Amino acid sequence: MSSTAEQRLPDGPYDAVWASPGRVNLIGEHTDYNDGYVLPFALPHSTVVGARRLDRPEWTVTSEQAGETVTFGPQDRVAGWASYVAGVVWALREAGHDVPGATLTVTSDVPLGAGLSSSAALECSVMAVLLDLAGIDLPMALRPRLAQRAENEYVGAPTGVMDQSAATLCREGHALFLDCRSLATEQVPFDLAAQGLAMLVVDSGAPHAHVSGEYAARRRGCEEAAKILGVPALRDIDPAGLPAALERLDDKVMRKRVRHVVTEDQRVLDTVAALRAGDARLIGPLMTASHASMRDDYEITVPQVDTVVTAALAAGAHGARMTGGGFGGCVLALVDTDRCDEVEAAVREASAAAGFTPPAAFVVTPAEGTRKVR
Ligand code: GLA
Repeated sequence: MSSTAEQRLPDGPYDAVWASPGRVNLIGEHTDYNDGYVLPFALPHSTVVGARRLDRPEWTVTSEQAGETVTFGPQDRVAGWASYVAGVVWALREAGHDVPGATLTVTSDVPLGAGLSSSAALECSVMAVLLDLAGIDLPMALRPRLAQRAENEYVGAPTGVMDQSAATLCREGHALFLDCRSLATEQVPFDLAAQGLAMLVVDSGAPHAHVSGEYAARRRGCEEAAKILGVPALRDIDPAGLPAALERLDDKVMRKRVRHVVTEDQRVLDTVAALRAGDARLIGPLMTASHASMRDDYEITVPQVDTVVTAALAAGAHGARMTGGGFGGCVLALVDTDRCDEVEAAVREASAAAGFTPPAAFVVTPAEGTRKVR
């Protein structure tokens, strides 16, 4: 398969070219850093990196999207977009891999700042190309934690392991059911077209920002709650034990956060069960319940996003929810294939009426994770 990003990659010569996709998360938001469950799938949009080996420990990376070239050595502290690249070099070296210097050329058609994991797509494609240059056959299953380490410890964003897992491990035609504690995976067949359905991604246009304090505050709050409840992570509270757990928490806000995480984990399990049973329509109400939980309990949605969800549901979507870290970004809407245009028009109209820029929408099907282009 060739993507727009591949077509845009300047002519080499390259010693290797690899691609990693962006992702949407079907359900399971802010559960990954609570050791819980997620269910992302890869987008057809990807980041492509062409690499040429250098005979010295130096990396020069050019990003078509940033319109910039950055050069760094092993000891340099890099900031901005190139920190994701430098972070991967750092994490690989920290793990004892002898990464050769390289000239890297990056092109991408993953929308930036839309909550579609453009950063994980960059990390994972860079990791793949560098490992290839080094001749290191590191199993795909071991790569997400390394890329996450680059993001947590080098870039400084305290994110979970979902995005890097999706970028690396997703399979075409499937959603990736991931247990973020054991890292066990199941490829769940996800063929909506066969059931007359489509997944619409609506980019609310409200930019989201991770390194910002809100994400970190949510994560800290969950860790504090787990400590008070005497469990390793909120994943260890099951829905039957939720009421008793909530009674033990004095803080009202903390109770809401815990309720989101525990119920969201269950919604992931219910979604997987519905997909295994072959009835994708059943996931609609779970998506909508997930959105309500993110809006009311986890408090990570914004008016632009809520407007899109409400309008999509009113126009006949089977379910709709924000996807990704929150505070903006994209909405997923499960719609009958023949109603895509209608739902899109309704969403644009409602957004304009509320004073927001009418959002762009596109239909997505599950694509392949990290792959060698040439
Ligand atoms: C961001 C993070 C992920 C995950 C989601 C929320 O995308 O990078 O690790 O926490 O937010 O589900």
